[in-house]
Amino acid sequence: MHVVVNAAMSADGKISTREREQVRVSGPEDFERVDQLRADSDAVMVGVGTVLADGPSLTVDDPERRREREQRGDSPNPARVVADSRMRTPPDARVLDDEAETYLLTTEDAPVDFVSETEDTGTSVIPAGESRVDLPAAFDALEDRGIERMMVEGGGELIFSLFAAGLVDKLSMFVGPTVIGGRDAPTLADGEGFVADFADLTLRSADRLDEGVVLSWDVP
Ligand SMILES: NC(=O)c1ccc[n+]([C@@H]2O[C@H](COP(=O)([O-])OP(=O)(O)OC[C@H]3O[C@@H](n4cnc5c(N)ncnc54)[C@H](OP(=O)(O)O)[C@@H]3O)[C@@H](O)[C@H]2O)c1
Repeated sequence: MHVVVNAAMSADGKISTREREQVRVSGPEDFERVDQLRADSDAVMVGVGTVLADGPSLTVDDPERRREREQRGDSPNPARVVADSRMRTPPDARVLDDEAETYLLTTEDAPVDFVSETEDTGTSVIPAGESRVDLPAAFDALEDRGIERMMVEGGGELIFSLFAAGLVDKLSMFVGPTVIGGRDAPTLADGEGFVADFADLTLRSADRLDEGVVLSWDVP
């Protein structure tokens, strides 16, 4: 599977406020870039922290891009994937609506009642791992279901785990003209953090966009 992580951050590297409130740091050009990235993917993934904080739909906004997907034999929207070890995604979350197929990655320990309630919304529940979602195993299961191009939109906990598991191929980030600050505000990669064996990146491009810059990195 080819995995692209994309996020928008403030000039000081924050992806939201300390209250986990979304802040718009990018502009219309970056919105189009992200919409295209979604349209080019088989699936778009977030952690349950992002579902609870932002309630995203993760669908393609531009009807023309949805039409192009259909013309090449794909569904109008990519599938949605949520990492959710304890099934905290509310059954009425937008990410579970019928605009696109959704996979909920959870654990063998997930409460059975929540699993059946979620499956009733038409969502496919994939158990992988025990206390937390085993991302390599879950990605293998997604690949078996035909997902080859994965875009990950956050948040910081999930992105760190993906780097720690060596699952990221590309990283793109919009860095915008805002300082959010806050020692407890989420950053691009939170989790435990590395103290050695850091994930090294190779810079591919740096382009001015809106009032900020888009940096694209390969993860060798
Ligand atoms: N600016 C941007 O581009 C952008 C994009 C997305 C989100 N955000 C912001 O990011 C914040 C949310 O980020 P977040 O870090 O709190 O949440 P997150 O990364 O979206 O979700 C983290 C949760 O995912 C679950 N999870 C399941 N398996 C995991 C694994 N193997 N590794 C890591 N997590 C796993 C964990 O909950 P369980 O243990 O319960 O499973 C974990 O707490 C929000 O404030 C949102 O606004 C910003």
